[in-house]
Amino acid sequence: MEIRKAKLIYYSPTGTGKTTVTAIMNGTGLDHDIIDLTPPGSDIKNCEVSSDELALIAAPVYSGRISTVAANRIKKLKGYNTPAVLVVMYGNRAFEDALLELKNLTSELGFKAIAGAAFIGQHAFNSEKTPIATGRPDAEDLMKAEAFGEKIMEKLRGVGDIPELEVPGNYPYIVHPQRIKQGGGVVPETNPETCILCGICASVCPIACIEVAESVNTDKTKCTACSACVQNCSTSSRHWTHERVLRGANRLATVHGNRKEPEVFI
Ligand SMILES: Cc1cc2nc3c(=O)[nH]c(=O)nc-3n(C[C@H](O)[C@H](O)[C@H](O)COP(=O)(O)O)c2cc1C
Repeated sequence: MEIRKAKLIYYSPTGTGKTTVTAIMNGTGLDHDIIDLTPPGSDIKNCEVSSDELALIAAPVYSGRISTVAANRIKKLKGYNTPAVLVVMYGNRAFEDALLELKNLTSELGFKAIAGAAFIGQHAFNSEKTPIATGRPDAEDLMKAEAFGEKIMEKLRGVGDIPELEVPGNYPYIVHPQRIKQGGGVVPETNPETCILCGICASVCPIACIEVAESVNTDKTKCTACSACVQNCSTSSRHWTHERVLRGANRLATVHGNRKEPEVFI
């Protein structure tokens, strides 16, 4: 298959997916355009990727599935039997059915998965008290990401038809009863004593659900708990106090503390 160009497409509120797929793309050496599905408004544009381009598509794992916002934005893509590399980012617990879900979703949109991967990113609920995959992807992860990019090019240069890619996961997909739902009222708090109203939280929110005026207000009916605002706060004023998140983070830091390694399917 002769591929000369690529599109790097990601939804990545806390940036770990973006860093990882950028390294994978570097490994391919392909010229590419970037389609960042993270900012609000990126869900209104349609985007076509032709059959002589490679699509590298990444989404974060939320409760064993791809994030719902990511899925809705990815639905705006259209392929024409376009070869695709699919990447899910997870916070060292598990990726469960997310990669299969991404494969099935993109296949309905006209993409043909030729490779897939699950990489580990610092968990959105990582904190000093509850370290969960802190600092990942790290240098070792990024070396593996680049090597994966090189392997993708070897596969594309090979002769003959590429058979259907097998990835782990089950259908019907998992539904965790305890999952944090969008608009379920689980939102970060802001410490008014230290907040300088700089507005970074509002600017990084992928669904524009934060308003900064005399104080910081979060729309509880929209928030997805992605934690972009917490991770990017300039004064560490934005933080989690919600009991479900604190309990979950504590459990993740203790039960899932052992380092997991990226898995590639090619
Ligand atoms: C609401 C929510 C649910 C999550 N569920 C999972 C999960 O099921 N398994 C896991 O390992 N990590 C989970 N994570 C962690 C993210 O997958 C992880 O932080 C990922 O690196 C985020 O990608 P990004 O930096 O590209 O946004 C969850 C994070 C959030 C905010």
